[in-house]
Amino acid sequence: MPANPAAPDTRELLGRLTLAEKVKLLTGRDFWSTWPLEKIGLRSILMSDGPSGVRGPVWDERAPSLNLPSATSLSASWDDTVAYRYGAVIAHEARAKGVDVVLGPTINLHRSPLGGRHFEAFSEDPLLTGRLAAAYVRGIQDNGVAATPKHYIANDYETDRFTASTEVSERTLREVYLLPFEKAVTEARAWAVMSAYNAVNGVTATENDLLETPLNSEWGFDGVVISDWTAVRSTNAARAAQDLAMPGPRGAWGDALLAAVESGAVEEADIDRKVLRILTLAARVGALEGTSAVEPAATPDCGSGTGFAREAAAEGMVLVRNTGVLPLDPGAVTRIAVIGHNADLARTQGGGSATVVPEKVVSPLDGIIAAFPEADVEYALGAVVQEGIAELPLDALTNPATGEPGVHVRFLNEERELFTEDRRATRLVWFGGNAPVDRSDTLEITTRYTSPRTETLRLGVAAPGVSRIWADGELVLDADVPLADEQLGAAFLHPPTTSAAVPVTAGQVVEIRVEYEIPKDTGLAGALAYTLGTEADDSDPDGLIERAAATAARADVAVVVVGTNSDVESEGFDRTSLALPGHQDALVSAVARANPRTVVAVNSGSPVELPWRDDAAAVLLTWFGGQEYGNALADVLTGTREPGGRLPTTWPARQSDVPVLDVTPVNGTVRYDEGVHVGYRAWLRSGATPAYPFGYGLGYTTWAVNRATATAEFGPDSAVEVRAEVTNTGDRAGKHVVQVYASRAHTAVDRPARWLVGHEVVRLAPGATETVKITVQARAFAHWAEGAWAYEPGEFSLHVGSSADDLPASMPVRLR
Ligand code: BGC
Repeated sequence: MPANPAAPDTRELLGRLTLAEKVKLLTGRDFWSTWPLEKIGLRSILMSDGPSGVRGPVWDERAPSLNLPSATSLSASWDDTVAYRYGAVIAHEARAKGVDVVLGPTINLHRSPLGGRHFEAFSEDPLLTGRLAAAYVRGIQDNGVAATPKHYIANDYETDRFTASTEVSERTLREVYLLPFEKAVTEARAWAVMSAYNAVNGVTATENDLLETPLNSEWGFDGVVISDWTAVRSTNAARAAQDLAMPGPRGAWGDALLAAVESGAVEEADIDRKVLRILTLAARVGALEGTSAVEPAATPDCGSGTGFAREAAAEGMVLVRNTGVLPLDPGAVTRIAVIGHNADLARTQGGGSATVVPEKVVSPLDGIIAAFPEADVEYALGAVVQEGIAELPLDALTNPATGEPGVHVRFLNEERELFTEDRRATRLVWFGGNAPVDRSDTLEITTRYTSPRTETLRLGVAAPGVSRIWADGELVLDADVPLADEQLGAAFLHPPTTSAAVPVTAGQVVEIRVEYEIPKDTGLAGALAYTLGTEADDSDPDGLIERAAATAARADVAVVVVGTNSDVESEGFDRTSLALPGHQDALVSAVARANPRTVVAVNSGSPVELPWRDDAAAVLLTWFGGQEYGNALADVLTGTREPGGRLPTTWPARQSDVPVLDVTPVNGTVRYDEGVHVGYRAWLRSGATPAYPFGYGLGYTTWAVNRATATAEFGPDSAVEVRAEVTNTGDRAGKHVVQVYASRAHTAVDRPARWLVGHEVVRLAPGATETVKITVQARAFAHWAEGAWAYEPGEFSLHVGSSADDLPASMPVRLR
């Protein structure tokens, strides 16, 4: 970690502050920033979500952000170098937006595939998660921007997320859920950590002793614990190692905390410690006079942000089946059928606070058209995936106030105009920024819509409460939409929708005016989300499938993109099913019957059931691929790039086989009774066979791993060195991920059947051989017992191979 050359004397600065000034510093100034204090040369520190792009202080298409592939894609690369460069690109984005602190990475675990934020987290394995997290944190912080690993801790589900308590043993916490945070702090020295919403063993995270031990007392964390948004509930959190309450300016601390210190309920020393940490963070990011943020390290080779986004998406794509159809030769393909709703309206990121607004998204359809310039590309929708309201396309909209593409927005109070904006989108979010959401009672949107075709438009809105729409002066929709879920933020994350039929003809211009009665008391004061758009027409599913199959039958090759939608994968709620939404399974089966050269790309952030997987010629798991998703997919289809991914999480064949599935609190608690047996460890214990195991993935070449050896004996303070000779036996350059797992036959401890202890990425030219070295620290063999790491002497086995289920080489190692 580069040191700040001019680290100021934070104690001296602290001494110049009154108690009231110190307390004020501990709550945010607004949604995203801290208070400045001119008298000590402290400017405001700006924070932003994260973690797959940097949104900045506003959620606005006029200030677009690079949309990188989601975390499951990044972790599928299994590659520290990719994660480090990802962090560096994030830091670059942050600096361009004046952001000092990025709220990420999300390093909770894939405990259950139903977890709503699964797409945003790395893996089901703590070591893989921790290693990639540390690389990502280094990539950001080496460039002078703070990373904020989140959410500490055991925050692996969304149902009742503000109140639920995770019941989990200390051993499981230490060996599984805390390990990624431990690595991010001890190996990458994270400058901030975000405390979670949930409770752990009955104590809410912002008041939990776990913030002190192990985070501070054992790992030496010297940064700022930032609360998740509104997670500080009382002044009790000030007695814990919770440092900064976000957002502000209101919150549970404020004057109440000042009074608590004055009455002696909270000690001033606790306040001082928090302030010192905030000042240290300020010095690190250059927010204190006389300091400057660390200059970007020797810029890693990331090319442009979009170039990196494209490369990273391909690095994460996991090829799980290939009968030989891939890679396609663009010169030999004359007609391609591109099928699927997500081929056109791809999901490039998951929903919720991780969302950024990219300038442009390359859909699979765009990417394939560009990659096959000579071929005839025919598109068929095949099945409706979208649920709810999709934005109106910008090129069909004229802002009546400016004549430019877009909409005119007004905030009104008793018909008096308080604020106006000209926007270039119809998904509108005010989450930070200047719009007077609190003081307005009506939001008005006007636009001129030119219909590209003759159809019955299902014009509607996504937002709770009263909306009215006029089309050419006629009231077409007047609805009061109830909010099913009363949880804080639900209006944002899972808005209810309504629509009305409006017949239009091609070329017709419709004057649209929308009025929305801004609801009071949504919990997130000052924030508002509103989408005007259209609902998809799903009235003829069989006809859609028939037309898609006919399109496929005419083509040399069919590429079907299936996936999830915003109603399935988002922050704020968990999934209820692993099935693909709508009629997509029937669609793939019909297309595969119509064309034996059918390639399926799965566009989901987390596992979905693929009942037809053995009928397709090839299956590629492509995650939420970021804004360059379509180009990256085309690169992989044509073999310009290899599919570089290996599964970071087990992919089940059927939901009913998943050994750890539950995400729903019972009596307010989610019990992690499976203990250390999560992910592939749980699958190994249950004996069920997944569709594709952890670690699995094919490339376009073949490999041999020979002469695997390991240090025969080691002690608790040493390490095992594993060596293996890896040869690329195919005729293309490629990437291989050598994986090492441990097991223990005779043991007094309840251990997983085997567990990942190390891995290394190898990239080799055809015919080349390299000896890979993997260092496994003794800690990988330790277990947590009675408050300390324990080492059971005796024989362990190490297994070397290419997935949790394919480990041809084994050898004994002895722990002294
Ligand atoms: C999320 C955090 C996020 C914060 C700010 C919360 O609801 O859980 O991950 O950083 O909002 O948007």
